[in-house]
Amino acid sequence: MAIERTFSILKPDATRRNLTGAVNALIEAAGLRIVAQKRVLLSRAQAETFYAVHKARPFFGELVESMIAGPIVVQVLEGEDAIKKYREVLGATDPSKAAEGTVRKQFALSVGENSAHGSDSPENAAIEIAQFFSGNEIVG
Ligand code: TYD
Repeated sequence: MAIERTFSILKPDATRRNLTGAVNALIEAAGLRIVAQKRVLLSRAQAETFYAVHKARPFFGELVESMIAGPIVVQVLEGEDAIKKYREVLGATDPSKAAEGTVRKQFALSVGENSAHGSDSPENAAIEIAQFFSGNEIVG
């Protein structure tokens, strides 16, 4: 299995409840390494760009509002099969469908406020990492 990098966001509902360390503990327990991390406030334009694929969906407005409601923690995670593995650590988008032990089962408030994001493909991981990190900020 190849060593991959994926992009993660700990969303405002997670930072608001002081859950950065709790989510990071699950990330590290799964064997993923946090090779870059910073706390930032997204602008509305950045949030709209990040979720542009969902622009036509009825939940887009609420999604953008929730992403700019407070600080987020953006991260690059590295490890074997990191993209799929982190999606497993997160669990299903809808927390009521997420498996026991996953981030979203334990911490998500709703589908919209579901505590964390993880890239869904190598292509999107590369795009998303480049939106937030320059190469010298990632230390593997
Ligand atoms: P999506 O890319 O489908 O899920 P994931 O985050 O698991 O990759 O959706 C992006 C975000 O949009 C999701 O994390 C929360 C929000 N969302 C809603 O608010 N309502 C919805 O019905 C869906 C599908 C997503």
